[in-house]
Amino acid sequence: MQQEQRERVEAFYDGFQEKLITDYLLGNPRIVAAIRFMQEHIRPACSSILDIGCGMGWSTYEFARFFPEATVQGVDISSELASLARRMFALSNLSYQKADVTSESFALGRPFDAITLIDVYEHIPVSDRPAFHGHLQRLLSDQGQILIASPTPLHQQWLREHAPEGLQPVDEDVTLEDMQALARALEGQLTVFHYRSIWNTNDYFHAQIERQPQYQKIGHHRQAARLTPRLQRLLRTFRYLNWRNNPILKPEHLKYFLKTFFLNNSPAP
Ligand SMILES: C[S@@+](CC[C@H](N)C(=O)[O-])C[C@H]1O[C@@H](n2cnc3c(N)ncnc32)[C@H](O)[C@@H]1O
Repeated sequence: MQQEQRERVEAFYDGFQEKLITDYLLGNPRIVAAIRFMQEHIRPACSSILDIGCGMGWSTYEFARFFPEATVQGVDISSELASLARRMFALSNLSYQKADVTSESFALGRPFDAITLIDVYEHIPVSDRPAFHGHLQRLLSDQGQILIASPTPLHQQWLREHAPEGLQPVDEDVTLEDMQALARALEGQLTVFHYRSIWNTNDYFHAQIERQPQYQKIGHHRQAARLTPRLQRLLRTFRYLNWRNNPILKPEHLKYFLKTFFLNNSPAP
């Protein structure tokens, strides 16, 4: 990414806090589905996880809780989001860093067994993909796996036509062929690719690329995927955020929270 574009992207995501905190409080079903998919597919013996584009750090925190033996690192281009993540979620096996993963100088000095990208791959400019794939190639361990959740081109097209305000500064189409190309670049195999219907039919996909696909018994962790309960998430926001600015105090969010919490018809846990 050129410097000018990087500054624009960073400034945009520095202002993304309220959106991500609201997603956390209300349990955005897109993120819930992606975290569960990743918890179910990351191998139980995994010793290190890198969460790229971790935002405010919710997914990173859930991975660190679910895989307590692993060291977990989140990276994000936004310094505001990285510092919010540090404030909200502290665990001994968890750290956060600000970094632009498209930059030539991006390096972390060690390989990871699992690399996760939740709603991030579409925000990497197509022209930066070769450099980004080079970073992933170096950052993934010999037996590593990459887990990706992204909107489908169907959803991107719908956004462009009906809700362009929902688009972010870089918002590319990501296809099955793109995932196959990434697998080739990493000398791995695309071992999962399935469409998910979160709000509309086939609006997202979940993918896994493995360097050395493993044929093994499904462990109990497959059934045990779980996120922090909603009430605990609410309490955490009051503990670590300035409560006057807490998005839950906005009438529309409070109404949605109470309705879905007490009527038990919530799309979230
Ligand atoms: C749509 S948000 C997703 C955040 C979080 N993973 C989630 O699903 O809620 C995209 C995230 O990717 C980050 N991001 C975008 N471009 C990036 C880049 N070049 N390097 C690192 N992070 C980037 C943004 O700052 C933002 O937090």
